[in-house]
Amino acid sequence: MKRLHIALVYNAARLVLPDRPEDRASMRDLRAQIRRLARTLRKLGHKVTVVALAHDLFRFQRLLKRLRPDVVFNQYDDVVHGAQYEMRVAALVRMMGFAMTGSPALALGLCRFKFMTASLLSGVGIPVPPNTALLETLKAVQEHKWQFPLIVQPSQEHAGIGLERESIVYNKTQLRRRVSYILRQFNQPALVQRFLTGREFNVGLVGGHRLRVLPLAEVDYSQLPPNIPPIMSYAAKWLENTEEYQKISVICPASVEPALQQEINHIAMRAFRCIGGWGYGRVDVRLDENGRPHILDVNCNPCLDEGIGIARQAERAGISFPELLRLILKAALERPPYDVDMPMLGLPADGAVINGSDTTARRSTSTELEPHSLLAATTT
Ligand SMILES: Nc1ncnc2c1ncn2[C@@H]1O[C@H](COP(=O)(O)OP(=O)(O)O)[C@@H](O)[C@H]1O
Ligand SMILES: [Mg+2]
Repeated sequence: MKRLHIALVYNAARLVLPDRPEDRASMRDLRAQIRRLARTLRKLGHKVTVVALAHDLFRFQRLLKRLRPDVVFNQYDDVVHGAQYEMRVAALVRMMGFAMTGSPALALGLCRFKFMTASLLSGVGIPVPPNTALLETLKAVQEHKWQFPLIVQPSQEHAGIGLERESIVYNKTQLRRRVSYILRQFNQPALVQRFLTGREFNVGLVGGHRLRVLPLAEVDYSQLPPNIPPIMSYAAKWLENTEEYQKISVICPASVEPALQQEINHIAMRAFRCIGGWGYGRVDVRLDENGRPHILDVNCNPCLDEGIGIARQAERAGISFPELLRLILKAALERPPYDVDMPMLGLPADGAVINGSDTTARRSTSTELEPHSLLAATTT
């Protein structure tokens, strides 16, 4: 790969402040993670400009226009600190004609709006938990036939936000209480689903036209006491001093029989492609009481940090962190098949910035409706 000028963009807005020292989602942790990313990209031989984006999109636009990067490394997806605009930022970058890592705006938007993702997946026959419903009012609780237990969460968040021990409900009174809490506290509809009690897996994906599945990871809840529900809540993900953080671990590679592993990989890849994901992703899958896998969550631009998440899964496949970033950059330069270059903001159409993509590869992509037919997939 030639030497690239990379604009590494991250969210510097602090609309929400989880800045307690024990909270691993603090701004300090985020900045440290961005520094590690920049260092690794530089080690790969690229020129990196770190761009902290808070609220001023016009300033951001002017800066990008001046920098003219070969690719924008998009880390503006940090929900915890209130980066609510990730799809708009992604759209702006692409409207300017720059290549961008990770998923395009539409996929980022869809995976933020979890009910839309679930509806889309179930529409093409990809299994999602039963009883999946979007409740915009408390009254709507009466309009469904529920089978408990259920899990209730905000419909437009990520990173375990709004998920606590009380998120699992066993009767209508608890359900009403939790839905009311979500509507008031988060000012958005509540997502309700059957609570699946089986094993939980993370499927790591990387690549563009050639999408690879990384070794499967499993969330191990076996050390949790019975009073704590087995879910990746906010505490489990971020709060170091809680029992859920200390007692839940992730095992990689997971030990799974080959037929089940194949099925999990298959639905995860289909789900990622179905919502238009590109470059890298992590799909959360959980088994029901009969051992059947269902898609819980499609994460389009999941956390990229050495030693955890998809970076750890990649390591298990012999893909080092720098190599993972190289694959992500490569996918960015290939460009997603539905994300057409149409620069609108006055950059010259013949610049290296704009025409960096391989259009032949894009045209040769199948346009069959069946999402998995878009894949030249390999399991690493
Ligand atoms: N329907 C469900 N059944 C069982 N567990 C669930 C369900 N939905 C969510 N969870 C649990 O909650 C965690 C977080 O939910 P998820 O939808 O992935 O939200 P987030 O975007 O915050 O990660 C999951 O990793 C899983 O442990
Ligand atoms: Mg999740």
